[in-house]
Amino acid sequence: MGGTFDPIHYGHLVAAEAVRSEYGIERVIFIPSGNPPHKVTKRVTNAERRYLMTELATVNNPYFYASRLETDRPGSTYTIDTVSEISRICDAGTELFFITGADAIFSILTWKDARLLLSMCAFIGVTRPGYNKSSLMEHIGNVNEQYEDRLKFLEVPALAISSTDIRRRAEFGKAIKYLLPEEVETYIKKHDLYRLDLKDFDKDNAIKYLSENLTEKRFLHTMNVAWEAVGIAERLGADKGKAYIAGLLHDCAKDVGQTPEAFKDIGVETYDGAFPQLSHGPLGAKIARELGVNDEDILNAITYHSTGRKEMSLLEKITFVADAVEPGRPEDAQREIRAALDQDINGAVVSALKRKFEYCARKGQSVHPLGREALSYYESLKN
Ligand SMILES: [Fe+2]
Ligand SMILES: [Fe+2]
Repeated sequence: MGGTFDPIHYGHLVAAEAVRSEYGIERVIFIPSGNPPHKVTKRVTNAERRYLMTELATVNNPYFYASRLETDRPGSTYTIDTVSEISRICDAGTELFFITGADAIFSILTWKDARLLLSMCAFIGVTRPGYNKSSLMEHIGNVNEQYEDRLKFLEVPALAISSTDIRRRAEFGKAIKYLLPEEVETYIKKHDLYRLDLKDFDKDNAIKYLSENLTEKRFLHTMNVAWEAVGIAERLGADKGKAYIAGLLHDCAKDVGQTPEAFKDIGVETYDGAFPQLSHGPLGAKIARELGVNDEDILNAITYHSTGRKEMSLLEKITFVADAVEPGRPEDAQREIRAALDQDINGAVVSALKRKFEYCARKGQSVHPLGREALSYYESLKN
């Protein structure tokens, strides 16, 4: 069973056990992926740590083993190399199965030496409930016609647990108990594995400020935006700590008096009487400064989160999009923007801007010139 296992959790273990009993498999070898080839960004926990967590998680099951096969291999590893290695150490005639996520099943024919790979082992794609089974079944059917039923599929309810969700929960200080083996939980806590790097930002003080100055609904929105921002930053290899701070503070001025006086020290031109609902961006940056934020990128992300602007930094875009996709937003908007985000962040910015303009139109508000400029800029990037 291959995977990133960052971290390994009960979903993986239940899936492996289900496959084992379904196909009468003798032993399941968990193979955490190695370190990514280029250390551009720290998106994945160090391979050694992921291997150790896998070892800890499998220790109580006599059929489960953890393998360092990919941990020790520098650079990217092709499945064909791993399967060849496993096949070499097994007795002759051993039947091999490769357990993987259903998403991988879709791309299998594009893998290195796919034909050879399919001749060496069968593939079992495991999915969480609610996964779009019909297109998967169709794909499996097509491949199986050419490759003697080498693809199989199993739905595992426990796979609703996700590593991403566990990382996020740990980063936000939420409970991760009962989602993964206790030994792994202890290991994560002991090494503070999923801690956001906030530099010297006093998070508790900021949260205290927000809870005292925002309505309950806005406070919830703010925490959701921080959560989304960290998730998007992780996917894009951006700084998760900065995304957290920008998301957390983006609306910090929304419920405080937005009067010309409040804008005095930051230049009167920042208070835009024609767009009072948008002035909480610049005012928010001022408050963020008082809360100890000096990073210009974070301050810009807060300043421009409600209007957007052309040539936004990655962090500005992440904050802008996170604000538009948090779970409190209309579901159709969330779906549309998330779909765009799956392609690229600029498309998601376009989609979020359009939604914002529609909202303004419904409310009879005019659209800020910076937003208009942003839309034509990001639309032109798409062409
Ligand atoms: Fe806002
Ligand atoms: Fe917001």
